[in-house]
Amino acid sequence: MKTIISFSTPAELETESLVAVALNHSDPAQTEKNKDAKPQIRLSTGDTAVQSVTADLFSSGEVTGKPFETNLLHKPAGVKAKRLLVISGGAAKKFTSYDLRRVAGASVRTLKARGIRSFAFIAPASIPAEEAVRAIVEGALVGNFDPDYYRSDRKDQKIDALTILASGNSDQAALEKAANEAQIIGESQNFTRDLVNEPSNRMTPTILADRAKKMCQEVGLKCEVYGADKIKEMKMGAFWSVAQGSDEPPALIVMEYKPAGAPEKPVLGLVGKGITFDTGGISIKPADGMEKMKYDMAGGATMIGAMRAIALLKPKIKVIGIVCATENMPSGKAQKPGDVQIAMSGKSIEIINTDAEGRLVLADGLFYARQLGCTHLIDAATLTGAVVVALGYANAGVFANDDAMFERFRKANLQAGEKMWRLPLDDEYKENIKSTIADIVNSGGRWGGAINAAMFLKEFAEETPWIHLDIAGTAWMEDQKPWIAKGPSGIALRSLIEFVKTFAS
Ligand code: BES
Ligand code: MN
Ligand code: ZN
Repeated sequence: MKTIISFSTPAELETESLVAVALNHSDPAQTEKNKDAKPQIRLSTGDTAVQSVTADLFSSGEVTGKPFETNLLHKPAGVKAKRLLVISGGAAKKFTSYDLRRVAGASVRTLKARGIRSFAFIAPASIPAEEAVRAIVEGALVGNFDPDYYRSDRKDQKIDALTILASGNSDQAALEKAANEAQIIGESQNFTRDLVNEPSNRMTPTILADRAKKMCQEVGLKCEVYGADKIKEMKMGAFWSVAQGSDEPPALIVMEYKPAGAPEKPVLGLVGKGITFDTGGISIKPADGMEKMKYDMAGGATMIGAMRAIALLKPKIKVIGIVCATENMPSGKAQKPGDVQIAMSGKSIEIINTDAEGRLVLADGLFYARQLGCTHLIDAATLTGAVVVALGYANAGVFANDDAMFERFRKANLQAGEKMWRLPLDDEYKENIKSTIADIVNSGGRWGGAINAAMFLKEFAEETPWIHLDIAGTAWMEDQKPWIAKGPSGIALRSLIEFVKTFAS
């Protein structure tokens, strides 16, 4: 999708469709008192010609102003566009770039379903121009993705070109820079979604590593892929214990971004869980819903996509991306409950449940990142069903062993418009991962399951400032929404990029 910044008067622009956001300006207190009062809907553009086309529509009372409500007018009088899509953004007072991102995604999905390939979006005046451009481009790219790759009736409808109509007094060069950066981020998010979308027979650890290598070559990153021999040689006993049960060879993917002129420190390590299929191993999962465990490599795919965006955005900070990729299979060679494994750090682990495999591969991934010199760590993983019990599908779980790093991440996260919620890591929970035979167990039981898993990882991050993102409930959309298809979401990538940017300036 190409993006163009334009300062045309909206009514004067020739386009397949103009898109304008309608906001509800009613005072909620008044609406409460008078149930019959018509909602006060107004377009968020000063263009009087466009406003006058919608006057009858708004005075009819048919438009409620609820988020994502759409009305499509053909041949709007006095406007050069072939169509005008009016899309509601909800209450004017609450409308932020978070909502704008989704409204942009929803307009893409509405228009592309009608076979339209290009349109022009009027940037709402209430949001600062640069912020609006970023939100519109990122949101539009998210909306432009559909996962139906293997359907014979796939129409592959896509928007090819998006024009953003900015108000006359903004700085064109700054807006074009914002659009370019947002495009890199949105395309990287979709690259991640492509990887996550593939089923396990088409996305083995080897294929994931090949895709990472190809991407690295394209954007000029260093990339090394290590196989079983090297994993054993480096004494990654936790990672190998998961890989040993599978006929598919594992892959340790290491991507490096070291720009000229970057300071020695910090070095950020991005570590991703890359389980290309999680059967549970000998502690096998029930058949019902097991097909979804093809997305258990979403954390790894997020880090590969993030490295792509970083290479193209060129921030002045060193970043190392590590993905521990393997299947988790039951077999005659598979590890069994009760086995004791020695991690790369030297810690011994009693395996209680072979289905708690993500934390095993990450234990060695995190420790290895520290050995490579990382001073700050972030991991992303579809780690626990328990995080879905705690937070549902709306928020990802965030854990941190360092408040300063968390605060920095939280700001980036708000900027990126992704929902995440911090969960605790108190010492009390350490009791849950004690073992009688080894240093720790790999499963702390059901209660506080997401926290127990994070406590396990903390043992391997040790004193290094570290953030853990449990994206089990958010990496896959269970239903389609107006702004996004059902399937892989690409969550966390945008927050990671915003976080990296805070170091670079
Ligand atoms: N990959 C799963 C977690 C998961 C669940 C991801 C649902 C996406 C959706 C993980 O490896 C797992 O199996 N976790 C176990 C841990 C338990 C055995 C301690 C779980 O959450 O049940
Ligand atoms: Mn598992
Ligand atoms: Zn898993």
